[in-house]
Amino acid sequence: MFCEASDCAGVATGCDALLWAMEGLGISKGDEVITVANTFIGSVLPILRAGATPVLVDCDPLTQQIDAEQVESVITPRTSAILAVHLYGRLAPMDQLLEIAENNGLALLEDAAQAHGARYRGKRAGSIGHASGFSFYPAKNLGAWGDGGALVTSDHELSTRIKRIRNYGQKEKYIHFEKGWNSRLDSIQAIVLREKLKLLDEWNERRRHASKWYYEQLEDAPVITFCDDDGNEPVHHLFVIQVSERDKVQKKLQRQKIQTGIHYPVPIHRHKCFENEHFAAGKTFPEAEKQSAELLSLPMHPNLSEEQVDFISQKLKDTCSESSNDKST
Ligand SMILES: Cc1ncc(COP(=O)(O)O)c(C=O)c1O
Repeated sequence: MFCEASDCAGVATGCDALLWAMEGLGISKGDEVITVANTFIGSVLPILRAGATPVLVDCDPLTQQIDAEQVESVITPRTSAILAVHLYGRLAPMDQLLEIAENNGLALLEDAAQAHGARYRGKRAGSIGHASGFSFYPAKNLGAWGDGGALVTSDHELSTRIKRIRNYGQKEKYIHFEKGWNSRLDSIQAIVLREKLKLLDEWNERRRHASKWYYEQLEDAPVITFCDDDGNEPVHHLFVIQVSERDKVQKKLQRQKIQTGIHYPVPIHRHKCFENEHFAAGKTFPEAEKQSAELLSLPMHPNLSEEQVDFISQKLKDTCSESSNDKST
């Protein structure tokens, strides 16, 4: 199988894949799941839906990925799992997380929604932890024509259970063993994904080439580009830089028809919907907060040419030097 794990269960969305992974492992009320504060809300909502409590930690300022040392410091007797998020198509520090999980008897789950095909020390994203969730939302590296998701695991018992849960909990037609849900992967999406999967490695290679080109062009730019752990083979779902006066820079680029994004403008603990939640309210995660104010996602897709990267990089550099001239006058 592409992910080099033994089992895969197609489900309706990436959120569902993470939710069923937790339900399948028996994670529920009273349990704590550790994850990172700088992620998409789709990493955290499944923890809450499972009835468990998210416990957030900050990210590493150099890699933007979950800070493994902080993970260790928030483990309590109620911790049942670590949810590693492979943010932007680059992998979380899985060696350290695996060791922490093993030493503390925790499940290690992967949110691989942005990391289709990435590798960490040779292993595919999604095959390293106990179970992982992928999203096939159309904008992903492997995107369907609508929503879709998959749970990947080498735990056959878990995948069998999830295949029941996603189909109303039935083992045989109209014989329901547990309270499941309708969370099947739509057949049309499955056909699209099967065809697109054949091209995924090639598309990822092209993203890698575009990223390398960006790194070279931006070497002398007043922006931060992020580094990866040794052995991390990313797939650059997004190409994210850190830049001061981000909003101004973004507007200036927009005027020159360069569309950029912000992933993500609000860290998890600052979302309005969590303002009364104990796990978020009043918490501070300085790196995640700084990043949400300064990150900018530059255009990234498999068809991005070297000329386009040159153009974007030059405009970005011009914009940054205009901003610093504005300040000095
Ligand atoms: C990091 C991350 N986790 C979870 C999800 C949830 O996936 P979906 O939108 O398919 O439910 C997404 C994608 O949207 C994501 O980017």
